Amino acid sequence: MGATRHLLDEDAIPTHWYNVVADLDSLPPPPLHPGTGQPVGPDDLSPIFPMALIGQEVSADRWVEIPAEVRAAYALWRPTPLHRAERLERAMGTRSKIFYKYEGGSPSGSHKPNTAVAQAYYNAQEGVRRIATETGAGQWGSALAFACTMFGIECKVYMVRASFDSKPYRKTMIATWGGECVASPSADTAAGRAILEKDPSTTGSLGIAISEAVEDAATREDTKYALGSVLNHVLLHQTVIGQEAKAQLAEAGATPDVVIGCAGGGSNFAGISFPFVADAAAGTGPKIIAAEPAACPTLTRGHYAYDFGDTAHMAPLLPMYTLGHGFVPDAIHAGGLRYHGMSPLVSHLVHEGVVEARAYHQNECFAEAVRFARAEGIIPAPEPSHALRALREEVEAADAEGVERTFLVHLCGHGNFDMSAYEAYLSGTLVDHELPQDELDRAAEDLEGLPALPA
Ligand SMILES: Cc1ncc(COP(=O)(O)O)c(C=O)c1O
Repeated sequence: MGATRHLLDEDAIPTHWYNVVADLDSLPPPPLHPGTGQPVGPDDLSPIFPMALIGQEVSADRWVEIPAEVRAAYALWRPTPLHRAERLERAMGTRSKIFYKYEGGSPSGSHKPNTAVAQAYYNAQEGVRRIATETGAGQWGSALAFACTMFGIECKVYMVRASFDSKPYRKTMIATWGGECVASPSADTAAGRAILEKDPSTTGSLGIAISEAVEDAATREDTKYALGSVLNHVLLHQTVIGQEAKAQLAEAGATPDVVIGCAGGGSNFAGISFPFVADAAAGTGPKIIAAEPAACPTLTRGHYAYDFGDTAHMAPLLPMYTLGHGFVPDAIHAGGLRYHGMSPLVSHLVHEGVVEARAYHQNECFAEAVRFARAEGIIPAPEPSHALRALREEVEAADAEGVERTFLVHLCGHGNFDMSAYEAYLSGTLVDHELPQDELDRAAEDLEGLPALPA
């Protein structure tokens, strides 16, 4: 029997982030200014982001050095383990090999601190005193609160109402690290007040929470904005995950045939998969699968188009798969996957056929999460339960074909704060939301009149 956990030494924490842009034959078109419709330049972004991150956003360098202070903070939980899931293999009755990379051992319980620490560091370097952000599941908000406390910065988090109500302890976690967390939409911003006036009982959305956080940062001298997903620099920071996984698989003597992650805005998915993308594009690498919720099917039923990154048209127009910036997904428990859009880089790779996308309902995902917990012990966050569902489909396909494959699946966070979701699943009261086409068609009307993507 081989090792159950493949552990790297601290000095194996990657020294550089990997920039997939350097290895792509074609690139997504540029983001456009929400007011002028012209390509966004550094001057447009400097009120809300520090210059170092703006530089990374547009960088074409293959490798970007990780500052020593960031690597030192990473050492609090990195390298993260790669597990061989032999118990899960037995529970599934397959001869295929399953490996999972586990990011739930970070201080806040997910992959999010990989970029939070980097973003807080660069803000601190440029003298920023306060950062505003949004959070869906609460994982990103807690990660940023943790990172801000590492670098002596104040942190304000706008948390989507649906998750704020179902996961009250995320707020306490944020407060423990010295941050402030309010439910979004909130009365603290003009964007929030406008939405509350129209619909006081709204469950909120990531698009709305982003509008609030961007407004907060744009209207205060001492404050910048941080985003936990979607943008190129965020995805870049997450590539420590896939780089470590590659080294760990090599140590295990394994080569993955299939790499699977869940996709909300695309950052954990990019983290695990981008280091494999150049090989996949050349036809020599693994099949790469992005799993998303059927209740928010951005990649599988969305439009590839320019759309606003937020609801109130404050964020740039991004070239991406989108359901329309006004789309408010049902209050599924995978709060981190309730985003109307998707990272331009991940969208581009799906559009080019390098990455495949699949959508699943939440009950079938929780069934896999529970199977996983009973075999491997760790209780997955609702978001990566979508990756586990895709894994099951792929394992069954291999078994049906009579072949043994090697799978790498990303377990990007634990679900220890998600007991209300598990309670609903286990008691049989969890609802699968069908999403009628006419609802999607109505949401897509938001795209009318926006600039078209170049042919
Ligand atoms: C555990 C977890 N997984 C996935 C996501 C989705 O974000 P992304 O697609 O950027 O990884 C989130 C977002 O909050 C999350 O908390």
